[in-house]
Amino acid sequence: MIMMIRICIFCCIVFWGGLHTTAQTPVYKNKNEKIDQRVKDLLSRMTLDEKIAQMCQYVGIEHLQAREKKMNEHKKQDFFAFYPGLTGSDIEQMVSQGMIGSFLHVVTPAEANKLQRLAMKSRLQIPLLIGIDAIHGNALVSGCTVFPSPISISCSWDTALIRKSAEVTAAEMRATGSQWSFSPNLDVARDARWGRIGETYGEDPFLVAEIGKVMIEGLQGSESDNRPKVSACAKHLIAGSEPINGLNVAPTDLSERTLEEIYYPPFKAAIKAGVHTIMPAHNEINGIPCHANKFLMTDLLRKRWGFQGFYISDFLDIERLAEIHRVASNQKEAVYKSVKAGMDMHMHGPDFHEPIKQLLKDGLLTEDRINESVRRILEVKFRLGLFEEAVIDEKNMSNNIFTKEYQKLALEAARRSIVLLKNDSVLPLQEKHKRILVTGPNADNQTILGDWSLRQPDENVITVLEGIKNEMNGKAMVDFVSVGGSTHKIKKEDINHAVQAALLADVIVVALGENALRFDGGNRNSGENVDRDDINPAGLQTDLVEALAAVGKPVVVVLINGRPLSVGRIKEVATAIIEAWEPGSMGGQAIAEILSGKVNPSGKLTISFPRSVGQIPVYYNHKPSQYARSYWGTSSEPLFVFGEGLSYTSYVYSDVSLEKDSIKRGEATRLSVNIKNSGKYDGEEIVQLYINYPVSDITRAVKELKAFQRISLKSGETKKVVFDISPEMLTHFDVDLQESIETGKYTIFVGASSKKGDLLMRYLDVH
Ligand code: BGC
Repeated sequence: MIMMIRICIFCCIVFWGGLHTTAQTPVYKNKNEKIDQRVKDLLSRMTLDEKIAQMCQYVGIEHLQAREKKMNEHKKQDFFAFYPGLTGSDIEQMVSQGMIGSFLHVVTPAEANKLQRLAMKSRLQIPLLIGIDAIHGNALVSGCTVFPSPISISCSWDTALIRKSAEVTAAEMRATGSQWSFSPNLDVARDARWGRIGETYGEDPFLVAEIGKVMIEGLQGSESDNRPKVSACAKHLIAGSEPINGLNVAPTDLSERTLEEIYYPPFKAAIKAGVHTIMPAHNEINGIPCHANKFLMTDLLRKRWGFQGFYISDFLDIERLAEIHRVASNQKEAVYKSVKAGMDMHMHGPDFHEPIKQLLKDGLLTEDRINESVRRILEVKFRLGLFEEAVIDEKNMSNNIFTKEYQKLALEAARRSIVLLKNDSVLPLQEKHKRILVTGPNADNQTILGDWSLRQPDENVITVLEGIKNEMNGKAMVDFVSVGGSTHKIKKEDINHAVQAALLADVIVVALGENALRFDGGNRNSGENVDRDDINPAGLQTDLVEALAAVGKPVVVVLINGRPLSVGRIKEVATAIIEAWEPGSMGGQAIAEILSGKVNPSGKLTISFPRSVGQIPVYYNHKPSQYARSYWGTSSEPLFVFGEGLSYTSYVYSDVSLEKDSIKRGEATRLSVNIKNSGKYDGEEIVQLYINYPVSDITRAVKELKAFQRISLKSGETKKVVFDISPEMLTHFDVDLQESIETGKYTIFVGASSKKGDLLMRYLDVH
């Protein structure tokens, strides 16, 4: 009996205690409540100022302080931004008062924690959303894994591997305190002068969309995933990659048809993949700056395509509506136009909160409109679990980044991304190559990391020289001659030194190209805001290769670059060319393994290489009349084409057949092809399927990539590859820009690259 009473008393305590706690815990703090209920509850408790604050993003305090000094030297570079009149401690105070909702460029975990703890002191304890440009690994944070840059990894055409790289990026971001990656970059690359080509997945809209999709899935995971995930940001809306003069921020002027066919598909796919956020582009499109473009942000993406997440402005681009584009006469009007068009969050700084308040006072904006944005932002914070876990375990951090497993993945990514462009039987290196000279401006530095990386600890980066030394240890002697670490500052004496050493070598490996490192000051000649009016290798790099080739020894050129370069002269004199792009932390090792033959190269270009700047724009999916005439005195063909890449083995394509070669509109069919590895090495081949559309009222590209598969084949092995040909692949935009399927004769191509000679074809009749 006594026992029973005790149990009853205990139950009462638990019951009342439970009720008491429930009554005290606001709905928004209860992780078992539905997210929309939590958002609703929180919103109902917020003051107007607290709401607007959620729409405001600021630059990290440490970053800010470091940049304050540099700002004086580089007045016009946004990267060195600062807030006049606001000190770091003012900003800290604002956080503790709940007056800031988000940060970017917080590059140390300690700072991330400090800021989150300050946010926990605020009245409603709303955690901060911390964003970072983790576009190929969390490379802006020291000690994290750097994957090959986007243009590099796209050349692997390996969506499973790219998804894994995004998962690792998400894990390292969460381990170091940020939860929002400003990635993927869905710009379709069409102008090699533009410095940001390295941030893109190349020139094909379908491939960009496929890679964008797996990046989003890898970063964001699914709700049921039991792993750290972050929010992705599809950017930049739209077409900033085709500026009229090759310069970042310059206007883009394109037809609605080109937008539909080339630039919209990756964004449509991103929305379908559930991307949490989207960033408009710096540029104007057909006369309307993207940051004030209601058609794009609201009518098209939100209303027609169903985008549910929130828009973040690009770095000070709301300000530029008045300062550069002149579609607003002051910041208040700029804020008005942008928010009216659909903007939800301001990157970055204080020039947003007050203008919004004034616009509300003037009756130009309503609190309902503000609520919409805040609801979207809070929803993302809840989905990321930030209300439960915003502060990270700093002590354990180093165990969770650059792990052995992540290094292995970065190495594999580099191996699969590298493209062999020329090989006159020198590679893989052979026993007769007993003495190797390594030289070139990119042979022994961190240029292999690419843009959006900060300097990484030396021990975390395998340079080209280090990779070759490791790999050749015991097999060949490796000499190194430095020509300085700058691609455009090589001197004649440097070339002479290299030539002297070349006399003693059996083979020469010369690493050159570009430098996109934002910490490398005057040596930087690629990357964001580093656009060029010529795309030859900068400085005396071509002279260096020519002088080395004149020695009469085989010369292997390793290109480290973020954009296609006009390497016509180099192609003539070099014995082999390896396009390594920006292969990341483990890049030097991967390059060396390809040199030695341990790894058979398998990457294929995702962007065409113009012979000269005058050929731009160059892309494989051009209209039929584009080369109806040719240039005087030179070839009109690009130097290297989309989809090409050599291997140490050879593949033979045969027996192409269509399951049905005549179908009704709306029906599907299948294409199969046999591929044989007819060489001595095991290898991986990227099989590409292109479609050319029938005669119609609208001109279509000569071919368009519609599917691809990466397959592995042992030496001597044959595999049958099957592609589904879906109605979606046969769809196009008709005269009225409506999606429809034409009747007529389609040509289906399958093969090793977009080159005519590499493709087999079959006709498909659609009636
Ligand atoms: C770039 C964005 C980037 C942002 C934040 C801007 O200059 O255009 O792509 O996400 O800076 O770093």
